[in-house]
Amino acid sequence: MKKHFTWWGAAALATMALMAGCGSSDSGTSASGGGTSEGGSGKKIVVGFSQIGAESNWRKANTESIKSEAEKRGIELKFVDAQGKQEKQIQAIKNFIAQKVDVIAFAPVVETGWKSVLEEAKAAGIPVIVSDRRPDVPEDLYVTFIGSDFIEEGKMAGDWLKKKMNGKAVIAELTGTPGSAPANDRKKGFAEAIADSPDMKVVFSQTGDFQRTKGKEVMEALLKSPEGASINALYAHNDDMALGAIQAIEEAGKKPGKDIVIVSIDGIGDAFDAMIAGKMNCTVECNPLLGPPLFDAIAKALKGEEQPKRTVMKDGIFDESVAKAERPNRKY
Ligand code: AHR
Repeated sequence: MKKHFTWWGAAALATMALMAGCGSSDSGTSASGGGTSEGGSGKKIVVGFSQIGAESNWRKANTESIKSEAEKRGIELKFVDAQGKQEKQIQAIKNFIAQKVDVIAFAPVVETGWKSVLEEAKAAGIPVIVSDRRPDVPEDLYVTFIGSDFIEEGKMAGDWLKKKMNGKAVIAELTGTPGSAPANDRKKGFAEAIADSPDMKVVFSQTGDFQRTKGKEVMEALLKSPEGASINALYAHNDDMALGAIQAIEEAGKKPGKDIVIVSIDGIGDAFDAMIAGKMNCTVECNPLLGPPLFDAIAKALKGEEQPKRTVMKDGIFDESVAKAERPNRKY
């Protein structure tokens, strides 16, 4: 894999040497443990993390993983929840720059619109690490990106559904946040997987914004409409929307998992419970436990070590036949 050693290394080494213990004012919540700093200088490292929000159980597990890893390593974490708004993420990053944090990390809510603020971080000599979703910016604007391959996840869901339905299905798609990398890529991957099967037809596609309540609302409306009657499969871009849709399907007097076969993405505990109850059929894993690799990357960036431009998380696929056996192993 391609390795990169950039100006970040030099900037980070200078930061470590000075280790000014910066960031006295806070733009969000701060969490820090009493352990040693990564730099070994006795001064705490300060990391600013701009999180998307708390839209799903996946996101909550992701936040928990990041906060607990910072605590474990004795790193001061300035954590800001953007409540799903890009402008709040941009403002948080600007605040981190003004506070002269040692490293900025963020999970971009959408793909576009980050170039200018990342150029500001670069000009300030602050390394940026991207978590979960990749932004559409030149690669020199961030040190490394850690996250799943969303196209592959969509393909796995499409391949599974094609097999389950013997190549013939009338499919409703619940998409994620418009403009987000997982919504774009999971749509693409799924479409590629079913492209060779003309009888696998996506007849409806609408956003549920990765939220359980919105997944339910969209499915409710669909089932009340004339096109809803023919749907026999649902592909949801995350488990929370699928779980909301399950409620709507039951309220409409249909059997989720039987009348409508359901495949979604994330692999959260609630999806396994739904499969065990016979209401859902398959989930493709998307690992949210990014805290450990993220802080490994931060430590490397601070030491000026080379690292790959991208680290892909390994994801599995679990259907109803393995749900019960797998349930005790689920960590989120
Ligand atoms: O970016 C990862 C996606 O964001 C998860 O699949 C979804 O649940 C979350 O909100």
